[in-house]
Amino acid sequence: MTHDRAALDALLTEKRRFAPPAEFAAAAVVSDPSVYERAEDFEAFWAGWAGELDWFEEWDTVLEWNPPHARWFDGGKLNVCHNCVDRHLDGPRRDRTALLWEGEPGDRRSFTYAELSREVGRFANVLRSLGVRKGDRVAIYLPMIPEAAFAMLACARIGAPHSVVFGGFSPDSLADRINDAEAGVLITADGGWRRGTTVPLKANADRAVARCPGIEHVLVVARGGLKDHPADMVDGRDHWYHELAAGVDDDCPAEVMDAEDILYILYTSGTTGKPKGVVHTTGGYLTQVHATTRTVFDLKDDDIYWCTADVGWVTGHSYVVYGPLAAGATVVMYEGAPDWPDRGRFWKICEDYGVTVFYTAPTAIRAFMQWGEEWVTRHDLTSLRLLGTVGEPINPEAWMWYHRVIGGERCPIVDTWWQTETGGIMITPLPGVTQTRPGSACRPFPGIEARLLNDAGEEVDAGYLAVTRPWPSMLRTIWGDDQRYRDTYWSRWDGVYFPGDGAKYDEDGYLWILGRVDDVLNVAGHRIGTMEVESALVEHAAVAEAAVVGKTHAVKGQAIAAFVTLMGGREGDEDLAAELKKHVAGAIGPIARPEAILFAADLPKTRSGKIMRRLLGDIAAGRALGDTTTLADPAVVQSLKERYEAKEG
Ligand code: WTA
Repeated sequence: MTHDRAALDALLTEKRRFAPPAEFAAAAVVSDPSVYERAEDFEAFWAGWAGELDWFEEWDTVLEWNPPHARWFDGGKLNVCHNCVDRHLDGPRRDRTALLWEGEPGDRRSFTYAELSREVGRFANVLRSLGVRKGDRVAIYLPMIPEAAFAMLACARIGAPHSVVFGGFSPDSLADRINDAEAGVLITADGGWRRGTTVPLKANADRAVARCPGIEHVLVVARGGLKDHPADMVDGRDHWYHELAAGVDDDCPAEVMDAEDILYILYTSGTTGKPKGVVHTTGGYLTQVHATTRTVFDLKDDDIYWCTADVGWVTGHSYVVYGPLAAGATVVMYEGAPDWPDRGRFWKICEDYGVTVFYTAPTAIRAFMQWGEEWVTRHDLTSLRLLGTVGEPINPEAWMWYHRVIGGERCPIVDTWWQTETGGIMITPLPGVTQTRPGSACRPFPGIEARLLNDAGEEVDAGYLAVTRPWPSMLRTIWGDDQRYRDTYWSRWDGVYFPGDGAKYDEDGYLWILGRVDDVLNVAGHRIGTMEVESALVEHAAVAEAAVVGKTHAVKGQAIAAFVTLMGGREGDEDLAAELKKHVAGAIGPIARPEAILFAADLPKTRSGKIMRRLLGDIAAGRALGDTTTLADPAVVQSLKERYEAKEG
């Protein structure tokens, strides 16, 4: 979310500080601030964490850095699934609960680590029976059900990189991702529950697969009780998971993987219309997600940990599945909406399971604030001891509400900055060490080095966030497009990573992340490229041109505003606006539905014909117009502004 000026001023006068409660610090996984100095030898620091994992063969070198390409723990051999599951089977964790799952209708399933091992082994054997081999890509399009975790772990077990696609994405978005990764198998479900109805995942998958010549098999998990969505099974192509699972055993040896073998591809929005396939590998990724899960979430053996993210996003990969299971935690997983059957659902789950560590997004916190405290206070939340946020800047007001109403003023809050590309948490407080400030992600994690730079690469107090040292869970490339990897992340400065965010320092030397500086919006914590939405709009027969910008939104942080010109000078109306919103939701997914559409006779352009998004952003944000002197026709933008203000009030 890009802060408007008033919000920014308020942010920078935020003076409150919260030291870790003494009792919390005394028992914390990390309570000694010298961890930061010790991690200055960052290779030794990360090697120490890598040593906590099980390796079939030790690595030769910790880091080989040929910018912009890194190899971590080269020569080392391990398996991520072995580390998340098998590693826990020899000791007391064997019979500890790994997964506590609740479906939206209220059905429950739970699995000990021993049971998880059998489920994952069986899933892996089913994939093998379909011919999936090491290196083959598998697409996963599932609701938040235990099988989503089993499927990911099963892929990791047999060395098949997975590409999870969020269940809220449209058939077209799914098809694009399947084709780009050249996946041969798609795992989906007959449906999943959301707000009391079922999402027809299999029907969406069928529409996608019609465009995917590479798909040989579709594996369908029966999400119990979906009688209204009987899946149309295509003979020879589609298989019910439970039928194949009945024919295999649950013992499947884990492939020996190279530290730099691919673990997964995850698509994320960039500044072009085409999503990027972010590639993560094995040894470094697991090392960092494990280290950060243990230290940032302070996980101990008796914790009940709940991260509310969907496995379709990177947070679900790193902090629902791989990090916490590598740490041997008990993980809560919930299928549905936070306001179903009522707005207290999350707090009921916290109470019912005795959740101790809770990790969610600022947009959710702002929604809870709006819904009112009474939904929270009717539940007993005294089991909570640590809270976290991720996905966008948290405004101090939401931070304070989280602290007071959810945390009972006793739980530290970790505001964690990171990205799909970074794989793991990069900037964050350590809950037993750091004095936090509401709205600040505080400091780089030990071993991570970040700076604020300007275009010339000089250090500044406010500017671009830059990561100046390689880190283990960094992306290795963009799938099939290494040039885009170089251009997007490594071309601004020499050997320095450009995340695309702006930030500033405060007087304590803490970092305040201010939002994206590129054409990527952050809508309710989800990254959406303005170009993706524009491409979807111009696909509509009535649309000639479209320009998409973010507008401030009380709950979502940012919402999508689209300026549209129509074919043949046609006049727009409310019906067409509604149709276009629906069209975008259908083309990309409901998360990309524009909040506002404004029809215009013309869009503000430079003399060379480039649309001036910055000015449109000013209009959508209700700011004074910036410099218009480079415009071909300054009157265009003034009349747009007047019309926008008349419409939006
Ligand atoms: C934003 C989500 C401020 C940021 C893990 C980043 C944040 C983008 C924070 C990545 C935070 C994430 N404070 N901004 N604590 N966490 N962001 O790839 O703009 O979905 O670049 O990864 O979210 O979003 P992504």
